[in-house]
Amino acid sequence: MVKLAEKINMLIKKGFSDLDWRLLFLLIVPLSILLFIALSSTPSIHYFFPLRSFLFTTPSPDVTGKLRQSRMAMCLVGGARRFELTGPSIMERVIKEYPNADLFLHCPMDKNAFKLSLLKTAPRLASVRIFDQKIVPQTAEQVRVLTAANSPNGIQGLLQYFNLVEGCLTMIDSHQKQHNFTYDWIVRTRVDGYWNAPLNPQHFVAGRYTVPSGSVYGGLNDRLGIGDFYTSKAALSRLSLIPKLDLAGYRRLNSESAFKAQLTTQNISYVENRLPFCVVTDRRYRFPPSHMGVPVAALSSPGPLSGAKCRPCTPVCKGRCVADVMSSLDKRWSWTNWRNGTIELCDAHGGWEDRWEMIFDRVAGKKLAEGRRQVKDLMFEECVADFREMKKKAVNWEAPTAEEICGLGLKNHTKMIL
Ligand SMILES: *[C@@H]1O[C@H](CO)[C@@H](O)[C@H](O)[C@H]1NC(C)=O
Ligand SMILES: *[C@@H]1O[C@H](CO)[C@@H](O)[C@H](O)[C@H]1NC(C)=O
Ligand SMILES: *[C@@H]1O[C@H](CO)[C@@H](O)[C@H](O)[C@H]1NC(C)=O
Ligand SMILES: *[C@@H]1O[C@H](CO)[C@@H](O)[C@H](O)[C@H]1NC(C)=O
Repeated sequence: MVKLAEKINMLIKKGFSDLDWRLLFLLIVPLSILLFIALSSTPSIHYFFPLRSFLFTTPSPDVTGKLRQSRMAMCLVGGARRFELTGPSIMERVIKEYPNADLFLHCPMDKNAFKLSLLKTAPRLASVRIFDQKIVPQTAEQVRVLTAANSPNGIQGLLQYFNLVEGCLTMIDSHQKQHNFTYDWIVRTRVDGYWNAPLNPQHFVAGRYTVPSGSVYGGLNDRLGIGDFYTSKAALSRLSLIPKLDLAGYRRLNSESAFKAQLTTQNISYVENRLPFCVVTDRRYRFPPSHMGVPVAALSSPGPLSGAKCRPCTPVCKGRCVADVMSSLDKRWSWTNWRNGTIELCDAHGGWEDRWEMIFDRVAGKKLAEGRRQVKDLMFEECVADFREMKKKAVNWEAPTAEEICGLGLKNHTKMIL
């Protein structure tokens, strides 16, 4: 019994990252059924609150089942730059994990948008918006509240990103109004996220907004968020809340600190959890990273990477070396949890390795590698057919024609020899 208690204690400390399921199952199932009955029949929920949150961090089949029957929206935003790598992982480990979820897609029209055709197998496609990126006119309030520092394209870059995120909320809200209901959950994530494990039900925490831990850059990690409609509205209203931040006296915020200020001023409490995805980047970063530098994880890292930057590489830094590098990083900036061998680092000062496709395929496995090859070998005609199929399935569709989207990315990838 002492051994058992020790084991449970260890599991709790580990944050249930890799559970001994059999053991937990034996304990949790009867416990959660009892608690669930208690919770649903007692009005004094506050009394049970610690137990309730314990229940939520431990997905019993009951909670998981309820989640899979709930009304859920999934919002994917951003450029499809490396979607041949990230798309298949999002499909397998996020979208298909919650087949009840409606998918919303908000992406700029560019030469990579054709890769979004991978989503043609999504179970429920609600709204697709692929739009021409225009300059977002900047207001005096935005200039006061935001800073251009560390943003590759200055304040305009931030506004573009905020517009992308808030646009998803607008699409979701309009879908809700159109069908007269409110989503129980909204999962907002990025098109450029590579998932190396499924999105776990434990990250759906009632009444609070869940974000990844680490990579906080002076605020809160804004690379993913999960909450109900109320908390999500506060989190995703990235442009429309700026006047409130201005009135509250906030100045010189970057994306992450503006995000934190939004939640704070709207009295939304949040949870920081370790989540199994990384943001695939083509950008180059000094190695080893300095105090405020950016570590780039190997896509093959065991994770969870909680949205840290990554690329497919042969890691140059493991174990002791990771400890040295990560300890030198600023905890309030790019630092992320690296303990227990979760991270291996790339030397990202140059471009991707020549062998990156081979490295990716080995890490991702057969199924995901197949997705990558499908996009690589996609022909213009197939792409057009895929987009037409998607358009038929979608409830709302606002995008250039299939020929325009596919033409921009696959100019000469056509069956006809011109
Ligand atoms: C929307 O739903 C509510 C309650 O479910 C109902 O009272 C209302 O009449 C509905 N409105 C429309 C326009 O269907
Ligand atoms: C947040 O809480 C503070 C203090 O309780 C209150 O003054 C403020 O109006 C609240 N803001 C919102 C948006 O609810
Ligand atoms: C994880 O790392 C910490 C600190 O290095 C250590 O105390 C703990 O035992 C490790 N846990 C596992 C499961 O390896
Ligand atoms: C593809 O098309 C572009 C311009 O449309 C042209 O510059 C390029 O040479 C073509 N490539 C091949 C391999 O035909």
